[in-house]
Amino acid sequence: MIDELKRIEEQARAELVAAADEASLEAWRVTWLGRKGRLTSVLRGLTDLPIEKRRRMGAAANSLKQALDSALALRQEQVQKERLAIIETGRLDVTLPGRTKRIGRLHPVTQTLRDVLAAFVSMGFSIVEGPEVESDYYNFEALRIGKDHPARDTMDTLYVDITHDGEYDVVMRTHTSPNQVRVMEKTRPPIRVVVPGRCYRNEATDPTHEWMQTQIELLAVDEGISLSDLKGTLYEFAKRIFGQERKVRFRCDYFPFVEPGAEMAIDCMICGGAGCRTCDGEGWIEVLGSGMVHPEILSNMGYDADRYTGFAAGLGIERICMLRYGIEDIRLFYANDLRFLKQF
Ligand code: PHE
Repeated sequence: MIDELKRIEEQARAELVAAADEASLEAWRVTWLGRKGRLTSVLRGLTDLPIEKRRRMGAAANSLKQALDSALALRQEQVQKERLAIIETGRLDVTLPGRTKRIGRLHPVTQTLRDVLAAFVSMGFSIVEGPEVESDYYNFEALRIGKDHPARDTMDTLYVDITHDGEYDVVMRTHTSPNQVRVMEKTRPPIRVVVPGRCYRNEATDPTHEWMQTQIELLAVDEGISLSDLKGTLYEFAKRIFGQERKVRFRCDYFPFVEPGAEMAIDCMICGGAGCRTCDGEGWIEVLGSGMVHPEILSNMGYDADRYTGFAAGLGIERICMLRYGIEDIRLFYANDLRFLKQF
C-alpha cells in the first residue's frame, strides 16, 4: 500500500511539471485529486483494512493529498507568472488586432430559392429533385416537344457526348419540366410537388438571359384542379415574395406541354414599368411559364384525363432574385465578383 502511494506521488509530480496551462492543470487535478481521482480511490479502499493499519495508511494518504494540493497551488502560480512574463517582455503583443475568420454566406440566388421553396412548402407542396443531365425523352419528347418541334430552337442546349442509335440523346436539361413526367410516372394523384434545380440553354446572354439558370417546377395533379387554382397559387406566391405593392401580369403563352398556357410577369423594378435596358423596354419582367397539364400527357402517364387535371409552372429564380433586390443584370450572379456577392 505504501508502495502504491509512492508510485502515485512520483507519477503525479512528473505530470504536474509537464502541465503548462490552466486547462491541463485542471485535467491534472481531476485525474489525481478529483472525486473519482486516483488518490480518492486509494482512500476508499482503506475501509477493508484492520483498524491499526487503516489509521497509518489513512494518515499517509492524507498527507500525500495535502502535499499534492500545495504542489498544484505552486504550479498554478508559476504558470500564471510565466504567462505575465510573456506579455511584459513584449513577446506577446496583446494590442495586435485579431485575425478575423472570413465566414461565407449563401449566394443570393440560393437565399431566394430557399424563400420561394418555403412559400410553396407552407402551401402544402413537397420538395423533390431530378437529374441535371437528362435524356432527350424526358426533356423534350415526353413533354410533346418532338424532334422537329420549333420549341427545340428556343431550348437549344449542351448535348452530352453519348450517342444512342447514332443520335445524340443525352442533354443538359433546359428546364425542370422533365420532372413533371418523372413524378407522374412514379406516383399517383393527389400530387403537390416543387422541384428546384439548375438548367442550361444555348443563350445569347443579355441582362435577363444566362446560359445557366435556376428553376423551380411546380406541379399539382388531383381531381377538380382548375386554372383558378393555378392563378390563386401563383398570386399567393407573388404576394409573399414581392409584397402586396408589386404589379403582376398574367397572360396567355404557349408551351407544348400545357393547355392552356400562361406566363407571369412582374413590373420592372428598375424603371417602374416605363421601359429600360433591364426589361428590354417592356416595363415587365417575365418570371415564370405555367399552364394546365396537357391531357395527352396525363393519359400517357396512365391517368384518367377525364377525372384528373393538373397545373404546372416553371419559375426562374435568378429573375425573381433580380426583382427582389433591384439587380440590373443577371450575369452578375455568376461573375464571381465578391464586391457584388457581399451585398447580400
Ligand atoms: N419549362 C418552361 C420553361 O422553362 C416553363 C413552364 C413550366 C411552362 C411549366 C409551363 C408549365 O420555359
